[in-house]
Amino acid sequence: MIIAIDGPAGAGKSSTARAVAKRLGFRHLDSGAFYRALTYAALRHGMQPDTWDGLDPARLDALRVEGQPSADGFRLLCAGMDVSGHLREAEVTANVSRMAGVAAVRDWLLDRLRAASRGVDLVADGRDIGTVVFPDAELKVFLVADPVERARRRLVEHGRTQPDAVDVRAERERLEARDRLDSERAIAPLRRAPDAVEIDTTGLTFEEQVDRIVRLARDRAEELSR
Ligand code: DC
Repeated sequence: MIIAIDGPAGAGKSSTARAVAKRLGFRHLDSGAFYRALTYAALRHGMQPDTWDGLDPARLDALRVEGQPSADGFRLLCAGMDVSGHLREAEVTANVSRMAGVAAVRDWLLDRLRAASRGVDLVADGRDIGTVVFPDAELKVFLVADPVERARRRLVEHGRTQPDAVDVRAERERLEARDRLDSERAIAPLRRAPDAVEIDTTGLTFEEQVDRIVRLARDRAEELSR
């Protein structure tokens, strides 16, 4: 069974997907982490972001980015080194939408993301999981949340206990700029699949949003077994 969770930046997709996978005993695939690992690797190789449009499969292979299956998800490796700790760095975040807008990059990753799903039950999260990567996913969820709430959560996640209004506004602007890039790009833009269940998490606790998806997944599994 594949559960696809898509939505804008900061809607809580990855943390929710990880918790849902844990509750169901599925593997978690954070597709954004792959785009981030490629971004990190390209920056480390001194490739300037304005040259990334020229990336081709051979150059992408040379970055030696791979997702190695771990107990409950995938560990992102770059030339054999675990780079998980670098994926949320500001420089990676600021440039990842550019990497994700390159057609050759998306093609290259598509095969790898699909290969990761073979033979396992999966909860995958990203922007185009239900529309492009796994259009036949048994359950599709589109998570949304109010932009101010998304910004606030993001800051709390980064260790700020009580972010003030100025910081929330700046973070909101960063999230919305990324959403615009992700939604307006020509290939595989951020879009809700017509058959996705939309969940607005603004007024929900984390546990409540996880519960809702777990319940939807159990209902769907029961439906499929009939
Ligand atoms: O979910 P995230 O913030 O880790 O994603 C990082 C970037 O990768 C995001 O700006 C959009 C891009 N992305 C994408 O284009 N398609 C996906 N399936 C996942 C992420």
